[in-house]
Amino acid sequence: VAISCSTKEQKGINNQQQRFSAEKYRPQFHFSPEAHWMNDPNGMVYYEGEYHLFYQYYPNATVWGPMHWGHAVSSDLVTWDHLPIALYPDSLGYIFSGSTVVDTANSSGLKIGDEDPLVALFTYSNPEWEKAGRNDYQYQGMAYSNDKGRTWEKYGVVISNPGQKDFRDPKVIWHEGSQKWIMTIVAGQHAEFYSSPDLKNWKKESEFGYEVGDHSGVWECPDLFPIKVKGSDETKWVLLVSVQPGNPPVQYFIGAFDGTTFTPDNTQSVPKYLDYGWDNYAGVTWANTPVGDDEKLFIGWMSNWRYAEKIPDYGFRRGVMTLPRKVSMVKRGNQYKLISSPVEQLEKLRKENQTVSEMNCDGEVKLDRLVENREGSFEMEIDINNKSSRNFGFKLSNALGEQFVFTCDVENKRIYIDRSKSGVTSFHDEFINQNSMEYLNFGNMKLRVFYDRTSVEVFINGDEVFTNLVFPNEVYKEFEVFSKGGSIELQRCEVWSLNPIWEP
Ligand code: FRU
Repeated sequence: VAISCSTKEQKGINNQQQRFSAEKYRPQFHFSPEAHWMNDPNGMVYYEGEYHLFYQYYPNATVWGPMHWGHAVSSDLVTWDHLPIALYPDSLGYIFSGSTVVDTANSSGLKIGDEDPLVALFTYSNPEWEKAGRNDYQYQGMAYSNDKGRTWEKYGVVISNPGQKDFRDPKVIWHEGSQKWIMTIVAGQHAEFYSSPDLKNWKKESEFGYEVGDHSGVWECPDLFPIKVKGSDETKWVLLVSVQPGNPPVQYFIGAFDGTTFTPDNTQSVPKYLDYGWDNYAGVTWANTPVGDDEKLFIGWMSNWRYAEKIPDYGFRRGVMTLPRKVSMVKRGNQYKLISSPVEQLEKLRKENQTVSEMNCDGEVKLDRLVENREGSFEMEIDINNKSSRNFGFKLSNALGEQFVFTCDVENKRIYIDRSKSGVTSFHDEFINQNSMEYLNFGNMKLRVFYDRTSVEVFINGDEVFTNLVFPNEVYKEFEVFSKGGSIELQRCEVWSLNPIWEP
């Protein structure tokens, strides 16, 4: 399977950067596989200067199929080298989502040689058992690597199925308090916690989630981690859970974990969401990262199961990841919440910039010149001071009248994203639905917008984020800021082209 497009032999003959930039819908600064189908990020771990990204991969088609773990590495989370497939399906089943840890103390006894073992825990999904109508076709498997993730040995099944449908997506952490490994799994619409001294023998500790949270679909890809509240010594535990098909898709709970039980702070009647767009799914955080204990590094699959297999294919459909993000916990008043921002390393991709500043806007201000020569791929910072507007925002569009619209509705205290006329939308009825969230204070709005051919990510005041796919027939080369029922001051709007992340 030719996924290793940056292997040394192919360089020169086949310039990856040139090929990828010629593909009209290839994102230029987001991770995507060379070709074919990708979904969830898996097994993300940092070890010896490398961030590993594994992912749900089907190398033989542009739709979902027998799952493998694709593999890429990066020294900075931004530029990536594709590596050969890490895990292939075998007689026990397809290789579904899971996680990887560094077994520094060799608790597993799997160490051979000088490197610490990387141990991957994943779900085996057995297609024959599923076809036979059994409930127990998913169970947890393990594999390990003693050469920095370059080659993997399968260890076998470590948790068999207790008779539970949808039993999957193990995420493992080391729990200091109890000196044990803790695995979080989802089972239908709740989470389960298991513990282990050695990654091989697991004991069920507890279950969580029957009465709380978003139950609009099956729970998937959980992630349990401690995080320090910014600027304080307090530590909170977070449980992320993706809901299929949720809208928005990634909910989270804040609470405490004692090595046995997760206790949410209060029974959350309204679920909290990590991202208010539709296209950030199955995301989890990196293990073993060299960042402070008040930060986690996160990436998600930039799609949505509602339409992931139906989005325009252009002969080479592949999935795309969100931008890598830094997630932190803040306390506002007596409310805790997670906030996301793009990792700082992205700033080193910035090249040609243009800025406008101190413009009054009452109506529409057209600023096409900022974006028209950027081939549908750029970063933009927009600082707005709202003077008297009732409704303001920005629009990205093209000569075909296709448009992506971001609106701050001051009167109704909501932010809206409208992609109903964004380009190709006919592949799914609900793609044209607005996404929105409640937002209270529109005085000063600092927006960071990343447009990369088929996606728009809008980070709002370092607080909230909307991640969405778009499929314009031509890239957006027009940009306007608008204000209705009053005026805003566009204090600054700066745009950068970004270097592509692929090797020349
Ligand atoms: C989430 C998911 C996981 C599963 C994987 C299969 O997108 O459905 O629950 O492990 O995808 O590819």
